[in-house]
Amino acid sequence: MNTQRSISRAPVLVEVIEGKRYFWCTCDLSITQPFCDGSHQDSNLKPLIFLATQTTNVRFCRCKQTASPPLCDGTHKHLNT
Ligand code: FES
Repeated sequence: MNTQRSISRAPVLVEVIEGKRYFWCTCDLSITQPFCDGSHQDSNLKPLIFLATQTTNVRFCRCKQTASPPLCDGTHKHLNT
């Protein structure tokens, strides 16, 4: 079970490139948040793949509580931690 939490709970703005795939961390163990670094290997979790359909800035969730992963939906504003 995951006991480690992301250092920052706020979203991160990332410029994504059209056609490129991004691997969003779902286990919350990666040190390269919000992206996967392979730390999930001992869990049953896998990264969520985000395919950029255009080159633009995207707000990736880091609190892992969003209802629309991997994108921030504002849920982090209502967390107690
Ligand atoms: S960082 Fe905003 S919903 Fe997770």
